[in-house]
Amino acid sequence: MKLAVPREFREDECRVALVPESCKKLIKAGVEIAVESGAGARAFLPDDAFRDAGATVIDDASALLGGADFVFKVQPVAMNEATGRHEAEMIRAGACLLTTLMPTVNLDAVRKLAERKITAFSTDCIPRTTRAQSMDTLSSMANISGYKAVLIAANESPKYFPMFMTAAGTIFSAKLFVIGAGVAGLQAIATAKRLGATVSATDTRQAVAEQIASLGAKFIGVESEEDAATAGGYAKELSREFYKKQAELIGKQCAANDVIITTALIGGVTAPKLITEDMVRNMQPGSVIVDLAAPGGGNCVLTEPGRTVVKHDVKICAPLNLPSEMPLHGSVLYSRNLTTFLLEFCKDGEFQLDLEDEIIKGALITHDGAVVHEGVKKALESGEG
Ligand code: NAI
Repeated sequence: MKLAVPREFREDECRVALVPESCKKLIKAGVEIAVESGAGARAFLPDDAFRDAGATVIDDASALLGGADFVFKVQPVAMNEATGRHEAEMIRAGACLLTTLMPTVNLDAVRKLAERKITAFSTDCIPRTTRAQSMDTLSSMANISGYKAVLIAANESPKYFPMFMTAAGTIFSAKLFVIGAGVAGLQAIATAKRLGATVSATDTRQAVAEQIASLGAKFIGVESEEDAATAGGYAKELSREFYKKQAELIGKQCAANDVIITTALIGGVTAPKLITEDMVRNMQPGSVIVDLAAPGGGNCVLTEPGRTVVKHDVKICAPLNLPSEMPLHGSVLYSRNLTTFLLEFCKDGEFQLDLEDEIIKGALITHDGAVVHEGVKKALESGEG
């Protein structure tokens, strides 16, 4: 099998889907690897590092993608305006693609992949089971986002995070509140604790209370019988009554904390509006909000995805792609996730498409000219995206 790794052409994407460390593993398993020249440059991985690991480096993206049986990417396939070619048109019919497609919000890419008869897998649809944990790009990338969010907040805050007892007197630690203690939220808590902040957090899934406490932070939950936990790990939507109580809680915490890091998503995609303009107005001047739910529109009504704005003396940061801002480790972890997936289904250097396997069933979006993923089919029928 020939595996191809193109250069990510989007301006805001510095990661590469495969790193030299993983090339060695795949070559050992009988896979031939070709990488587009410059693919790793923005992650500080020069072409020579890929050559040294046994990969071939190719200049022409069309030749690279057209000659591959399997393609690894970071971003969904898209039109490269600079070359006037759509990536899906360069991949040959019948070849496989593994990328983070976010298919329910990238329906045009899905349609194109089906039309082109490409067998496309989306890393974000890999079931969140123990067996698939080491393939879970959502978790490894969310970890980076949680870590980076705290560094951004510390940088933007006019206050120290740790407590200091100095000759000029005592400075008390900054207070930081995390909304949504999933993978990103838990890493934000851990990072903020390491920096010495006083940390508390909330979530609609009761099970996380223990995880928050184990990191040395305080869980502040809504008094309710309701629990948003689902079997898949994602939060489900709760009653109006619950959200009313939660709004009171969040309002109080906004006024009492210096930094809010918000990560709440429903079903892993939709960002509920949890911070109102009034809540922002009631925050202390100089406070910071880092809205990690910005790609889904944001948890704060004043969030402007992709921008940092100041509203009512509060800085609201809404980064869209933090893993790309740590491109070396972002690429290493992403590459390990994809390599684990491929090796799981690779025999004698060839990919085995086992349509009965639960990981394949979950991750497979298009095959044989059709969209096969139930959730994506529904999204296409309702015409979203
Ligand atoms: P996510 O990115 O979908 O959501 C972030 C967090 O926001 C979640 O904890 C969710 O409960 C919370 N949330 C949603 N609505 C909220 C609201 N109104 N107020 C406050 N919080 C709200 O979640 P992520 O980070 O992808 O992971 C969710 C969970 O999935 C993990 O904590 C874990 O339990 C499970 N998981 C399981 C894996 C496995 O078994 N292999 C792998 C990864 C995650």
